[in-house]
Amino acid sequence: MLDVAGNKTHDESRQGEPLAPYAGDPNKYQKRFYIESYGCQMNFSDSEIVASILNAEGFGATRNVEDADLIFVNTCSIREKAEQTVRKRLTEFRKLKEKKPGTLVGVLGCMAERLKSKFLEEEKLVDLVVGPDAYRTLPALVVEAEGGQKAVNVLLSRDETYADISPVRLDSNGISGFVSIMRGCNNMCSFCVVPFTRGRERSRDADSIVKESTDLFNNGYREVTLLGQNVDSYYYSEPTSGKTITFAGLLEMVAEISPRLRIRFSTSHPKDITDDVLFTMARHENICRYIHLPLQSGSTRILQLMNRTYTREWYMGKVNRIREIMPDCGISSDIIAGFCTEEEKDHQDTLDVMEHSLYDMSYMFFYSERPGTLAQRRYKDDIPEDIKKRRLQEIIEVQNRLSLQSNKKDIGKTFSVLIESESKRDADNWKGRNSQNKVIVFPKNNLNHRKGDYVTVKVNDCTQATLLGEIVEM
Ligand code: 5AD
Ligand code: SF4
Repeated sequence: MLDVAGNKTHDESRQGEPLAPYAGDPNKYQKRFYIESYGCQMNFSDSEIVASILNAEGFGATRNVEDADLIFVNTCSIREKAEQTVRKRLTEFRKLKEKKPGTLVGVLGCMAERLKSKFLEEEKLVDLVVGPDAYRTLPALVVEAEGGQKAVNVLLSRDETYADISPVRLDSNGISGFVSIMRGCNNMCSFCVVPFTRGRERSRDADSIVKESTDLFNNGYREVTLLGQNVDSYYYSEPTSGKTITFAGLLEMVAEISPRLRIRFSTSHPKDITDDVLFTMARHENICRYIHLPLQSGSTRILQLMNRTYTREWYMGKVNRIREIMPDCGISSDIIAGFCTEEEKDHQDTLDVMEHSLYDMSYMFFYSERPGTLAQRRYKDDIPEDIKKRRLQEIIEVQNRLSLQSNKKDIGKTFSVLIESESKRDADNWKGRNSQNKVIVFPKNNLNHRKGDYVTVKVNDCTQATLLGEIVEM
């Protein structure tokens, strides 16, 4: 697997995961919908909003595509491979539709935005095309499509945040939930399609974020991840009081819900993460000691072409600052190999910054040119695929070594671990994570713990991806 190695923004194990009907749903529905999600966590979170909108209109969710009257695919455009996977899936759904006429197929999310009515008109693959800011119009679009019209809404909005919609949680562990705090992105990194597919940045009102997080806590959740393309530029101005809330302020508000609720967030932009955020994290034990800080490239020249607005020195300074304020903070990264004009010495700079930053984990990709982006318009995608892949492989090898080294350093240490689920491999073991976001597996030892409990675990051993330990106190 070369395109993605170990992933959270794009959790490979969850790609294409269907939405489960929520347990104990007492309603009887006339119609059933099936929804499959691809791409980043934001997309998975959006599918929960879509489910809520459809539920309110009398549609029930099903995990079984054959039972569905409506099939939705929430799509990702970030790399070409993501789009190819979705296209293959849509072709499969078209075959299914031939067997069961009347079934409607809809494309949601970033590909809907990027390809607009092309899906309907040229390819005739689907019946509905709905962009990420138009989900409120889904029920009306379904009616249009049922009447045989081609239903499209790909309008982007400057203010839609779906703040008032309570997502139907598809997350199955019931312990960690995602709360979207902003939408869109104003950054214009030259490689990235997101500003075009998800539109301008806008922040959701703080009170609705605190309310949604509190509801999750009251429903047994013990961890919320605040989601946005660039959480550090969260900025909300209360219309009545005029009070402004920054990301640091928001973190504090959510952290104060309960010391038993863990707070995580993703994604940070190195140019925007402030000391204020770092000190807020340091002050609150329940704000996890973990920052996803995408590097993209370690070469100042390439960073400039990428429009990242920082230099390699500035990035390394930020890593130092994080470690100064929180010596135990986990750091992970996103890295792109083979961006336009990248030379061996630029690649070497990337490997060097990785060694400096000592990432616990990285999401690693080779550059995939996306139509319409600044890079596609300005630069030639001139690095041959075999060189891109070789450089990516070298990046992966460095990261594998750093991950193992970081895990080995934890042997002998004890951590507070939130139990998330049984270990998939062995029902006699629990699986949880420490504050630094590392997965820890440990025996249950008949101690009657449950999912959502915090336990103190001593690490005895590790692999590159997992810490192995034992409970030392309750
Ligand atoms: N090619 C390869 N990787 C990309 N990413 C974003 N756009 C591209 C692209 N065109 C990566 C970046 C980003 C992560 C979510 O995906 O590393 O941080
Ligand atoms: Fe998420 Fe970006 Fe993929 Fe859209 S293109 S689903 S925003 S990662």
